[in-house]
Amino acid sequence: MSIVSLSEVQEMVQNTAREFTNNEIKPVASINDKEHSFPEDIIRKLGELGFMGMAVPEQYGGSGLDYLSYMLALEEICRGCASTGTIMSVNNSLICAPINTFGTEVQKKSFLTELASGKKLGCFMLSEPEAGSDAASMRTTAVLNGDHYLFNGTKSWITNGAEADFAIVFASTDKSLKHKGVSAFIVNMKTPGVKIGKLEDKLGIRATSTAQIFFEDCKVPSENLLGNEGDGFKIALNTLDGGRIGIAAQAVGIAQAALEDSVIYAKERKAFGNPISDFQGLQFMIADMATRIEASRLLVWQASVMKDKGMKYGKQSAMAKLFAAETAMWVTTKAIQIHGGYGYTTDYPVERYFRDAKITEIYEGTSEVQRIVIARETLKEIQ
Ligand code: CAA
Repeated sequence: MSIVSLSEVQEMVQNTAREFTNNEIKPVASINDKEHSFPEDIIRKLGELGFMGMAVPEQYGGSGLDYLSYMLALEEICRGCASTGTIMSVNNSLICAPINTFGTEVQKKSFLTELASGKKLGCFMLSEPEAGSDAASMRTTAVLNGDHYLFNGTKSWITNGAEADFAIVFASTDKSLKHKGVSAFIVNMKTPGVKIGKLEDKLGIRATSTAQIFFEDCKVPSENLLGNEGDGFKIALNTLDGGRIGIAAQAVGIAQAALEDSVIYAKERKAFGNPISDFQGLQFMIADMATRIEASRLLVWQASVMKDKGMKYGKQSAMAKLFAAETAMWVTTKAIQIHGGYGYTTDYPVERYFRDAKITEIYEGTSEVQRIVIARETLKEIQ
């Protein structure tokens, strides 16, 4: 663990999350993964712990904590189960945060209070079948018609899509304006015209739902517009700046779990008369795993502290996500290597860590998108 000092509250949050993970999450993570089973009971308990709206002010049902506390908790939860962490992070980062930042008082009272307290679950609908990294090329439209907008279109890869009560949906209110014509809305998933389509059969985070969602002449009240018409693309990217620190924390949690399991295994497993942890080849792997994880964690903490201080942190968030995601992939690959043939079976959780790690290089902006963000900022900074 890093020597960078945490406050008493931050340590308490971290310890609570660690204990909850060890007692409640780790014992069921593999079975939920195998059965593609949404961890409903655990999510309800995370709500009771105040973990579903951690950085939301208490007056809107949240825990009123800083972003670093949220990241400390998220890393711990993901150490036990990346699926559970994904569900938690979408609710915290991708729906509570934008409503808290851009919502009206009425929107906060109507939606945020229930989401942040964990009574309701949220999702974030930006991507479409033909608009992933190039999010601005979305085809979903929202046409103002009296007191409501009429929605038509298809959203893809929607985490929590099958279970969510509320969604933030991005749609074009003026196609001719391209990204400047994108608007954001809060949508109740029970609204007629919202249809849940195919659930993806995924490589990892298999205890989460990832759904395709159809909007067919769906009427969304005009008071559910978040910000102003045309603000949507900036709301999306601003939200993702915060969300990406969360995915970095998730990657650190997965990598940390892989390291811990590898060390325990290496001390027990014998070869040529000795525990394999005695062999220098293996020790070097452990050293590199630990070092890369520590560097990733520090990037997560740095981006979080910058966000907490109100500084510009988009580049640091992208760096944290890029480095932590690639670290998680690398570390989990080594973890399987250390476990040998056993690591390639479902008898040990390292294969799950490996499968779960991959998504951190893809969602909330691929590693290539993070490189674009980092390069653009770096080229601006150095003249
Ligand atoms: N915050 C706020 N505004 C921003 C911003 C930021 N971080 N970055 C850029 N903008 C603004 C720009 O200032 C610009 O505004 P103006 O036109 O007024 O000047 C506007 O947004 C467009 O910016 P760019 O020209 O830089 O946009 P671009 O088309 O070149 O795209 C990109 C840049 C980095 C590739 C961006 O589109 C991007 O991040 N794409 C990835 C999308 C993504 O992460 N999708 C993940 C899906 S969500 C998910 O995974 C959910 C889930 O369920 C887990």
